[in-house]
Amino acid sequence: MLRYLTAGESHGPALTAIVEGFPSGVTIDAAFINHELKRRQGGYGRGKRQTLETDLVIVDSGTFHGVTTGAPITLRLINNDAKLERLQEPSSPRGGHIDLAGAINYQTGIRQVLERASARETALRVAVGALAKLLLRAIEIQVFGYVRELGGIEAVPLSLDEAIRDASPVYTLNPSVDAAIVAAIDAAREAGDTLGGITETIVTGCPIGLGSHAQWDRKLDARLALAVMSIQAIKGVEIGLGIEAAKRPGSKVMDPIAFEAGFPEDDRLFGFRRPTNNAGGIEGGTSNGMPIVVRAAKKPISTLASRGPSVNMTTKSPQPAAYERSDVCAVPAASVIVENVIAFEIAAAVVEKYVGTSLDAIRASMRAIHELDRARLERWGAE
Ligand SMILES: Cc1cc2nc3c(=O)[nH]c(=O)nc-3n(C[C@H](O)[C@H](O)[C@H](O)COP(=O)(O)O)c2cc1C
Repeated sequence: MLRYLTAGESHGPALTAIVEGFPSGVTIDAAFINHELKRRQGGYGRGKRQTLETDLVIVDSGTFHGVTTGAPITLRLINNDAKLERLQEPSSPRGGHIDLAGAINYQTGIRQVLERASARETALRVAVGALAKLLLRAIEIQVFGYVRELGGIEAVPLSLDEAIRDASPVYTLNPSVDAAIVAAIDAAREAGDTLGGITETIVTGCPIGLGSHAQWDRKLDARLALAVMSIQAIKGVEIGLGIEAAKRPGSKVMDPIAFEAGFPEDDRLFGFRRPTNNAGGIEGGTSNGMPIVVRAAKKPISTLASRGPSVNMTTKSPQPAAYERSDVCAVPAASVIVENVIAFEIAAAVVEKYVGTSLDAIRASMRAIHELDRARLERWGAE
């Protein structure tokens, strides 16, 4: 079982993740992990914190000469802005944050809960997801995320081209709308307001059979939804057509099944073809070999420079919500986080299905099961 936990406060000395069940034999490409961390720090609309931090991953355990051993892997990120003990207690809780509910729930001040609830923690989730991507890369599964909509402006993808996304200040795949999005972020900043948006992640190269139909908590779509919904400020998750499916008749939602003879031996679909992909690559909680498509809706940042109404915690009289240095828009960063948490869940499903303690074992198991399935499908009906 591949799993991880994170620890650390936004302004504590460091953030730490322990990844358990990661197979041996994967070379740690720290430059790649750091590249993903840098992407999370970027995107137009972020606040001053990102200029203070230089997220570079430190691997404290689970490797030998830069290659994973199968032992728990500790990933650590140093906080440059480590000033937890000097920070003051906010006098009024911010709506849209853990401030009020958390301080009551944990019987602490507001500072203690907001420091842990902060999206600074998502830097670790990106590091962990990037580690998972190294495993996926070795078995030819790709995970690609981008911004699909921001501040209500749709950015219909022109092509799934990493170079286009990486050249975009807001991580879209449509340069013609970038200027309008940047202007909308500027206008929101001027007005003391913030913007949300929608990210899309596409997983390609998945074999048929990740996840299971047999039990609710083994369903791949359910696991992806949990992982994505657990990201700070994500308020909706869709797979494939998602909510749109509820508005159409069945004939416009169901993906037809066709067959193409003479398929190559390594065809992960065994010749079965799906002319549409409304299911977003998952049927009955199981990957069906088509691209897995996940959209995530991120709410606008709740900390407003214009400060919304709140109350003073001591006097209970009206007082504007506390304001702390904040992002105006973090949708591009969210697209990187969503992409990486999805990568981790796919890697976890791979380790579960192909039960491997090493990369070689996983590869061998994938090949063997592929051959078993191919032979079975050929013999189908003959027994
Ligand atoms: C990448 C990223 C950056 C964020 N930056 C901020 C920020 O600067 N200020 C803020 O108030 N909320 C920020 N948030 C959102 C809060 O962390 C989140 O809304 C808060 O913890 C409450 O959790 P909830 O919205 O999931 O209920 C950010 C979220 C993400 C994903």
